[in-house]
Amino acid sequence: MCGIVGYVGSKEAAPVLLEGLHRLEYRGYDSAGVALVNKGRLKITKAAVRVNELRNLVGTDAPSTIGIAHTRWATHGPATDANAHPHTDADSRIVLVHNGIVENYEDLKAQLLEAGAQFKSETDTEVLAHLVGSCYLDGISLEEAVRTALRRVEGTYGLVVMDPRKPEELVVARNGSPIVLGVGDGEMFVASDVAALVRHTQRVVFLDDGEMAVVRAGDFRTFTLDASSTTKEPTLVDASDDEYQLGTFPDFFSKELHEQPAAVDRALRGRLDEQFATVRLGGIGLDPHELRTIQRVKFLGCGTSYYAGMVGANLVEELARIPADAEPASEFRYRNPVVDPDCLYVAISQSGETLDTLAAITELKRKGGKVMGAVNVIGSAIARECGSGVFLHSGPEVSVASTKAFTNMMVSFAMLGLMLGRVRDLSVASGKRMVTGLRALPGQITEILQQSAAVEQVAAQYAGSSHMFYIGRNRCWPIAREGALKLKEISYIHAEAYQAGELKHGPLALIDETCPSVIVIPDDELLAKNISSIEQIKARGGAVIAITNTTLPEGLCDAVITVPKSEPELDPVLLNIPLQLFAYHVATKLGRDIDKPRNLAKSVTVE
Ligand code: F6R
Repeated sequence: MCGIVGYVGSKEAAPVLLEGLHRLEYRGYDSAGVALVNKGRLKITKAAVRVNELRNLVGTDAPSTIGIAHTRWATHGPATDANAHPHTDADSRIVLVHNGIVENYEDLKAQLLEAGAQFKSETDTEVLAHLVGSCYLDGISLEEAVRTALRRVEGTYGLVVMDPRKPEELVVARNGSPIVLGVGDGEMFVASDVAALVRHTQRVVFLDDGEMAVVRAGDFRTFTLDASSTTKEPTLVDASDDEYQLGTFPDFFSKELHEQPAAVDRALRGRLDEQFATVRLGGIGLDPHELRTIQRVKFLGCGTSYYAGMVGANLVEELARIPADAEPASEFRYRNPVVDPDCLYVAISQSGETLDTLAAITELKRKGGKVMGAVNVIGSAIARECGSGVFLHSGPEVSVASTKAFTNMMVSFAMLGLMLGRVRDLSVASGKRMVTGLRALPGQITEILQQSAAVEQVAAQYAGSSHMFYIGRNRCWPIAREGALKLKEISYIHAEAYQAGELKHGPLALIDETCPSVIVIPDDELLAKNISSIEQIKARGGAVIAITNTTLPEGLCDAVITVPKSEPELDPVLLNIPLQLFAYHVATKLGRDIDKPRNLAKSVTVE
């Protein structure tokens, strides 16, 4: 989605801003712009171009120690130079960049037009600029003007406003769209994502919804929309700039895919308790007695995070024998859900900023629900809103399509299931089995990654397909869905996931020699049934690519990728890795831009 960078300090702002925009490119955008101030004169450079081209357009003729910059992902109006941010009011007394959507922009625009405003773009953001300008009267400070304007705005915003005549401060606001301040030494940064500022500072302040800040080179002040001061201490981000660099990898997807052994290792570190055959998840903040009062567990998330929730529900049911299910947060928030006070709700999010998931949490809390987070980004809105939970510790995930965060979600839910199980009836022996299984995962994932070349050969054979089925059942049904999603996202091949037992109830009609099936087939109690599903597909001329941890009958499948055996409950963690590799190699064969899949953005902070 859109990206914001702001700077005020003593350095030249343009390189800081452009480098910041470059760090946000992974989020997807279609135009970019920068506003700088030199000797009281505002210079805006914006166009429907990539950041690299913007760099050339900005040039070096406007040295400025303050500035704001933006990458836009079109919502109101197409990707044109005029619609790109920054936007100004009529006399360019203020200039601003904005992420989010002004829902009542048509009403506001009508009122501003009536008052004589003229618009140069089709954006809701320009309406916001004129609105702030109309409130910026003599004797009123910029922060007051922004506050007054925002009281009339319905919708979401992450906003940075600057008055070129006062090149010493930025006014910042957040509602539903992330804004983080970076605290430097005599300089301050503003961004929509820490990725844009970690190369300068690791001391950050996350703004809350409904919060504003006035940022100057040497300090910052935070307050609410009704001007009450808030107290914010900088925290340290646990990511370094290196983690946002490609290193020797061609793209972030493969980098993060290959980082999974280390990511899982981080998630497990300090949490496995061999002595009591359990795990320590201190962040949940519930003692054994409270853990025992949980009667149900419900996982909520979107996309890949929802599929991780499905894996989590299976794990909790199997290990703790507590009824559990998963639901897309995007559905839950709109269906007036019955909230059960004895249920533990788990909100899952890599970014910690997904609006649908955040809205589900708000609804839950409003109805007295007990909700914990399973979040990757420390300090993110969902982490703060939940207040307790499990951090995923995947390290920053830059690729739009998730890999390592999904794996760490599954691993975290295996730990949650184990912890809940061990305060109930899961035996010491079963607990030990799980702890041993968890500990082995990083090494086993490394082994699977070493088969990348073999998976590539299979991918080359099937990259020309227009459709594929992904088949799984029970524990591996969610990863069949995730595998199909991954293929769709980065290769644009249509892929549909089905439970093996459902094939005969309809989808078999689509199977022929043009439609291969990827089948996830673990060595579990359903092996024989899965083999007969493969036979049904083969009988109709369909090719079968098996992802398995056992030896299948010779000649049964057209391709077989074998992973090491784990504990059955952990099968999805290992069997998912070849699905990621397969999607990656198919997409590469098709020449796709893996890190920037079309129409997609990394964190979805709009409805
Ligand atoms: C797919 C993917 C998305 C996200 C979804 C939720 O590869 O990454 O489906 O999982 O948009 O995002 P988070 O987890 O950040 O809430």
